[in-house]
Amino acid sequence: MSREADIARAVALLRAGELVAVPTETVYGLAADATNAAAVAKIFAAKGRPTGHPLIAHLASVEWLSRWTRDVPALALSLGRRFWPGPLTLIVGRGEGIPTVVTGGLDTVAVRVPAHELTRAIIEGLGRPIAAPSANRFGSVSPTTAEHVRRDLGDAVAFVVDGGACSVGVESTIVDLTGDAPVIARPGGISREDIEAVVGSQVPIRSQGEIKASGTLPSHYAPRAQVVLVDRAMLVDEANRLAARGRRVGVLLPDELRDGVDAAVVVASFSDVAEVAAQQLYAALRALDDRDCEVIVAALPPEVGLGAAIADRLRRAAYDDTRGD
Ligand code: TXA
Ligand code: MG
Repeated sequence: MSREADIARAVALLRAGELVAVPTETVYGLAADATNAAAVAKIFAAKGRPTGHPLIAHLASVEWLSRWTRDVPALALSLGRRFWPGPLTLIVGRGEGIPTVVTGGLDTVAVRVPAHELTRAIIEGLGRPIAAPSANRFGSVSPTTAEHVRRDLGDAVAFVVDGGACSVGVESTIVDLTGDAPVIARPGGISREDIEAVVGSQVPIRSQGEIKASGTLPSHYAPRAQVVLVDRAMLVDEANRLAARGRRVGVLLPDELRDGVDAAVVVASFSDVAEVAAQQLYAALRALDDRDCEVIVAALPPEVGLGAAIADRLRRAAYDDTRGD
């Protein structure tokens, strides 16, 4: 289908209260007209997501803030003007036009302007924000291609708009602006360092458990396989050791370390360059699951720039909720 036909079909379905999966620069989103409470309710059913978990409302431009949010601090405008369209989500006051089903009953709302041109055209065409969480089943690995969405959600979504592979590959950075000082609620596609440069002071990362944010649950973004974190220097040895014990092992591995990996180990490329690793992460976890790996060995990147978001997702993927803490 042509670009124009895709946009027209997506807009018509959203107007009719249907779900449409849309590409963004971070991950694919499962979208509904954010002003239609019945349509938004379908998102929770399709994902198997608890209804208390609030969604992000996606806007067409920074100018939409005044129409759909309230109590917008000057800092929201500075951050929006600097990073939108782009992988930054701001939590501000909820505007009247956003039903509370979007916000999980909260009087605050998460908003962002996505950088994918197709999806901004769809939002413009609809003339209203779209509510969209990542287009995966609750708790599992986020989708970075249209094919990932089709495999996860299948018939639950009326139309998957194919915008190619996501250019950033990890979710947006969430900055909560509703308190006395800005706080990062989830590390993501815009680095803490870049946000601090606009804010003009340090912006702390909120510790877990303080807020209803599914992307901040200790166990999330998890493949079926158990994820084991080791030092980068130990990746090959640990993968080989587990394989020698008869485990079906996958490893997230920089290409230059491939020599020395046993033939029994399933290798997924994972760059030392954070921007590239972010693009590879979710597709690699899915590929190793598809190859029936029981264990995935990985190393945390240095936690600067995009490395902070990658390390955050790997830790949550590795978190074992059967340990009981
Ligand atoms: O990059 C992204 O942010 C992607 C794309 C599709 O835009 N979306 C995404 O949505 O990751 P989701 O639903 O998987 O994660 C949104 C996060 C959740 O952790 C949610 O709890 C939090 O944002 N959130 C939304 N509204 C909030 C609010 N009012 N207060 C606190 N947290 C909120
Ligand atoms: Mg998600």
